[in-house]
Order: sequence, then structure tokens, then C-alpha cells
Amino acid sequence: MDRIELLRPADWHLHVRQGEAMRAVVPASAAVFAQALVMPNLKPPVTTTAAALAYREEILAAARAAGGRAASFVPWMTLYLTEATAPQEIDRAVDSGAVLAAKLYPAGATTNSDAGVRRIERIYPVLERMQQRGLVLCVHGEVVDPEVDIFDREAVFVEGVLAPLVARFPGLKVVLEHVTTAEGVAFVREAPETVAATLTAHHLRYERNAMLAGGIRPHFYCLPILKRERHRRALVEAATSGSPKFFLGTDSAPHPRGAKESACGCAGCYTAPLALPLYAEVFEAAGALDRLEGFASRFGARFYGVAESTERIALVRRPWTVPAAVPLGEGEEVVPLRAGETMGWVVE
Ligand code: DOR
Ligand code: ZN
Repeated sequence: MDRIELLRPADWHLHVRQGEAMRAVVPASAAVFAQALVMPNLKPPVTTTAAALAYREEILAAARAAGGRAASFVPWMTLYLTEATAPQEIDRAVDSGAVLAAKLYPAGATTNSDAGVRRIERIYPVLERMQQRGLVLCVHGEVVDPEVDIFDREAVFVEGVLAPLVARFPGLKVVLEHVTTAEGVAFVREAPETVAATLTAHHLRYERNAMLAGGIRPHFYCLPILKRERHRRALVEAATSGSPKFFLGTDSAPHPRGAKESACGCAGCYTAPLALPLYAEVFEAAGALDRLEGFASRFGARFYGVAESTERIALVRRPWTVPAAVPLGEGEEVVPLRAGETMGWVVE
């Protein structure tokens, strides 16, 4: 197969930042994806529906300015949950029609998560309202306990926090974001229909040696951190299984070059420009290209209760070279994953 057509896909976990950086990165996602769920970890975080709607207008303007397929891109918004979030904010979010989820960041777990949640009991009233109103809870699934090894933080979270949460709120729709472990996959597979997971292209394609063997490669550093090969295989099996609980979410997370190539580099892989070709590479290696459309274009929309795109796009087998860097505004640049390397699939 040298050409596959699929419904225009959706990215259910995307960081586009703000200001000039946002205007610089939105076109790469919008040119491919029909819709995306935009993450709220800005400075300051997007904690209100009003802020989410204002941010959405800016993203829409950036996509329209890019023209072509990007002009019809639909950004869906996410509220950043804090211990001060009021249940009424959930009502406003649902009533807006443009906010599809609220995100639980354990405080300190990742980039701009300081305003996140320290004690989960404090947000029970909000989770109760989300359950009632059908707003999806997106979860960054890692504990922050410094006693827990960074490679174990997801598995410990799944058992100690996520499982009890799902049991306590059986009607709450929950997405375990960027699942990276066999334990996470097993939990989601066995959980009720209310529980799903997103999978990134980089966690499907790489294990931790890509980041650490033969030299430290900061552009592979993200959170949750890349795991062992046995976990990667479990992720590939989940993504290519045809189960509608597992769908595409890139977690494309641009940082300026200097913030990555640093003695204390930021977490995040910028994958938007190569995301769909990278997923195709993984699905092809697994002999599952026929399952890419469900994963990339259908299952997430179904879970979130929004329409799939009716447009089609094509992936064509043709080599292209990922740029060494792309402008990020304000004189900065961002180095994409696989910078300077060749991809075997191109989006048309
Ligand atoms: O690697 C990551 N980068 N993981 C996250 O959870 C946040 C993201 C970012 O915003 O940079
Ligand atoms: Zn993320």
C-alpha cells in the first residue's frame, strides 16, 4: 500500500502555547487534524470558561490566517482544575459548547502544573458535577511523590489514585492521557466503558534508549518519561487492537530550543509536523495500517460525543525530511522530534 485515505483525524491532546508561539505552531496541527483538544497549562493556567473561550478565539484566528485545510480546524477546550475550581465553572464549561474536558494535573507533575491538585478529595464536588453534566476528566496520570522512581510514577498512580477514582465516580468519563505503561493499558482495557486513554506517537515509536543510550537526547525527554521496550510493545498492541478505548493524542509540546538543550531541560516533544506520518510508521510496522483510521479519526470523537470529520486526507508513501528547526516566534525556534531525519509517509 503506497497511499491510504482516511477521514481527517483528530488530536485529543495538544499543546499550542500562547501568543506568538501559538500562532507559529497552530498551522502545523490545523493543516492535518480536523479538530483537537487543546491543553490548558498556560501561564496563567486556563481555569475559567471565559479564559478558555478567549483562548479559543485566538487559536481559531491563527488557523484561519493559515488558510487551506487549516481554516476549518476546530479547537476544543480544556479547563485546568485547581483546588479552587467551583462546580459552577463546570456548568459554564458544558453550557459553552466549546469546552469538552477538564484536566487534572497533580501539582508538580509536569510543565506549568504548580496550580494543580495536591489533595484529590478537595475536587470531589467538582468531579461530582462533571459526572452529572458529562464533562470528561483528562488525567495526567503520575504521582509526584519524590520517593517514587520517575519510571514508576504512572503505574503507582494508576493503582493508587486512578483505580479508586474510577470506582468512586462510576459515571465520570475519564481519559488517562498519554498512557506509557503496560499497567496503564491493562487498567484502561479492563475498566468500564467510561474510561479511555490517549497514546502519543513518540511513546508508540520509542523506548527509553532513544533518549539515553549513546548520549543524552533532550528532545526525547517528555513526561511521562519514555519507558522500557516491553511497555512500548503494550502501547502498540493497545493502539492497533481496534479497541475504541485507545485513540490518538499527540501531546505535541513545543519548547524553545534553549529550554530543551539545557542542563535542566523542559519536558515535551514537538511532534505536530510529523505526527500522522509517525503514527503511520508505527501502525505499518505492526501490520495494522487498516486500523489507523479508527484510532486516528473515529474513536476519540465517539468518546467525546462530537462528530467525526467528513473530509478525507491521504497518507502517501514518499520520503520527506523533517526540518532541523521551525520558528517559534520572538526569535526562538523549536526542534521537532526526528529533526533532519527522513519520514516515509507524507500527508496530502
Ligand atoms: O512532556 C510533557 N510536556 N508532558 C506534559 O505533561 C506537559 C507537556 C508540556 O506542556 O510541555
Ligand atoms: Zn500534555
